[in-house]
Amino acid sequence: MVTKVVDLRSDTVTKPTEAMRAAMAAADVDDDVLGADPTAQRFEAEMAKLMGKEAALFVPSGTMANLVSVLVHCDVRGSEVILGDNSHIHIYENGGISTIGGVHPRTVKNNPDGTMDIDKIVAAIRNRAGALLYPTTRLICLENTHANCGGKCLSAEYTDKVGEVAKSHGLKLHIDGARIFNASVALGVPVDRLVKAADSVSVCLSKGLGAPVGSVIVGSQAFIDKAKILRKTLGGGMRQIGVVCAAAYVAVRDTVGKLADDHRKAKALAEGLKKIKQFKVDSASVETNMVFFDIMDPRISPDRLCQVLEQRNVLAMPASSKSMRFVLHYQISDSDVKYALTCVEVCKSLEYIHLSLLAFNFCDNTVFMFSESC
Ligand SMILES: Cc1ncc(COP(=O)(O)O)c(C=O)c1O
Repeated sequence: MVTKVVDLRSDTVTKPTEAMRAAMAAADVDDDVLGADPTAQRFEAEMAKLMGKEAALFVPSGTMANLVSVLVHCDVRGSEVILGDNSHIHIYENGGISTIGGVHPRTVKNNPDGTMDIDKIVAAIRNRAGALLYPTTRLICLENTHANCGGKCLSAEYTDKVGEVAKSHGLKLHIDGARIFNASVALGVPVDRLVKAADSVSVCLSKGLGAPVGSVIVGSQAFIDKAKILRKTLGGGMRQIGVVCAAAYVAVRDTVGKLADDHRKAKALAEGLKKIKQFKVDSASVETNMVFFDIMDPRISPDRLCQVLEQRNVLAMPASSKSMRFVLHYQISDSDVKYALTCVEVCKSLEYIHLSLLAFNFCDNTVFMFSESC
């Protein structure tokens, strides 16, 4: 018997659908490093068109997509990039832009809605008169949706304003659009309009869209020509990638239309959590597929709550030492959401979690006994 697991750790955990597997099996492939894979070429052309840019490039991951993009824009030594202090590029990508690329990060505070104040961005741009002392600002990065800010959407108007700032100072604008389709659907704005002001965008195919692997970068033809060289330098040139591009094509075709449903389920989950007094969640702030909530009872640790949920086949991840996150994707049904809520309800039986926690702290064997009795 296969046990059903409700996996809310991330939207990266989806398994390829039958349609994706069939497309992978049937994909017409050749060597993409030699520029000959027809499926990759078709997919890249489709993505460029969809995103309203001249060209696109398939890369193995979102991290490489951002790294390549930043390095293409900052190809002169001593370059600086302005980015959010809570952004994925700054926090979760091993500092690759500086350790590999030699690009200096200048952070601006992210507001809870994922934006950075325009005046703060302007103030962070280096004065070229001080070039003897300062690095040179070359790029501004935005993130849409903003993951660490709870999957918040940046509007087209805000993005345009940042684009104007960039243009008027001779800078480029890159968007980490790992979940840009979630933003497009939630805002009801076509994705090409949403990224119009950007010189480049990275889009993850294996998050909400559900492809097994990969990201694409889009931008001008000149940008993509340089990105292709850097992709090879970083070891991201791959041979018969038509196999994965075929699955990605199905993901874009089939899943974008399901994202609104993920957002609705995320809201339902947040509304359910709101009723549990030990947790604090601002359900009104849930805009897309992510639900972050604070644990108000100091006796409950997120790690322990995850362990207790896992015993009931619900997987989740802590967001910090006092908060948790649940991420929705199209392989989570309405009844999965209800089941997860029921488990959280039962697990908030705090005495149990508290006792387990104490036992966990003092005696490994005892915790086993408590866990077994959950
Ligand atoms: C906003 C954002 N950007 C970039 C990435 C990096 O993607 P990958 O895990 O494919 O490297 C992630 C991954 O979770 C992300 O959430």
